[in-house]
Amino acid sequence: MQTQYLDGLGQRRQAVNTAARLLREGGVVAIPTETVYGLAADALNPDAVERIFLAKGRPQDNPLIVHIADFADMQALVAAVDPRARALAEAFWPGPLSIVQPKAAIIPAAVSAGLSTVAIRMPAHPVAREIIAAAACPLAAPSANRSGRPSPTTAQHVLTDLNGRIDAVVDAGSCTVGVESTVISLAGEMPCLLRPGGVTLAQLEAVLGAVEVDPAVNAYVAQDAVVSSPGMKYQHYAPRAKVTLVHGSLEAFAAFAKQQPPDTVAMCFHGEEAALPIAALPYGKQNDPAGQAQQLFAALREADAQGAKFVLVRAPKREGVGLAVYNRLLRAAAFREVTL
Ligand code: TXA
Ligand code: MG
Repeated sequence: MQTQYLDGLGQRRQAVNTAARLLREGGVVAIPTETVYGLAADALNPDAVERIFLAKGRPQDNPLIVHIADFADMQALVAAVDPRARALAEAFWPGPLSIVQPKAAIIPAAVSAGLSTVAIRMPAHPVAREIIAAAACPLAAPSANRSGRPSPTTAQHVLTDLNGRIDAVVDAGSCTVGVESTVISLAGEMPCLLRPGGVTLAQLEAVLGAVEVDPAVNAYVAQDAVVSSPGMKYQHYAPRAKVTLVHGSLEAFAAFAKQQPPDTVAMCFHGEEAALPIAALPYGKQNDPAGQAQQLFAALREADAQGAKFVLVRAPKREGVGLAVYNRLLRAAAFREVTL
């Protein structure tokens, strides 16, 4: 299959129209969002949804987020609109928040991976919203990477993973948030954070009151475990290199880096490069979690591009958006952490 490159910056209207036509015809198209690039298909067309799983090599038990352009579009997709979903949407949509509720019968089993719920999100990226509106259907869209690899934050990342496997990619430059949306479940009595992201736990609690945090957010989940968010149990976001997450001071990190085999690269904070005895890839400033989120996946991919066999990563603070950065790094590291 030939993958069409659509220029969403220089020829935006044409790119949007072509993408929408391909999607209506049952194709799979990578589209920009403010979080990461998504691999979209008509959420109500089971054959199109199946193509997403095939292109990504995605496990069938991992459900997809459904993207809409208008709050009113949610009504048809869920069993009943939860008043808490309305409050969340008013506060955070369009934006990096996916809301899980009991699903309507119209949602194909492939989208919900057999669960009784569906995750819905209204992205903020103008090109994403124009494509959804022009396609005139809700779009199922996981991140547009081969399953297990770091999520793509540029069209080039998408092509590295999926060229020849998808119908088209719409290029709109780098994603501004850089990590995937926050996923919150309203399926139980107490709201539950399933995946941290651009909308923080504190922001959610300001709207909802107390929010539970799923144990899988910060800890290892056995492969055979039954979890509320299947995506959290897979090794994920990982470059080919073996990643280790390192807690401790810059001095201790530098001394530890010196003892590593050749072909080890350090992912550090901006400005720390000169203090390190090995090749360094900065991913944001130490006290800027939003900047870390924005650069995280590009840095993990760059480690591969440089041929690194091992990557040591300076652990981020687990506060605010930093919780999302930590959650992704923990999975990229297959839960290998050392404290110096
Ligand atoms: O920012 C994002 O959310 C991006 C962009 C493209 O919108 N999409 C994305 O999708 O990250 P994906 O498939 O890579 O991650 C979806 C996550 C997975 O962890 C999945 O298990 C969870 O959401 N999820 C989806 N539907 C769910 C449901 N009904 N119940 C619980 N978890 C669900
Ligand atoms: Mg993903």
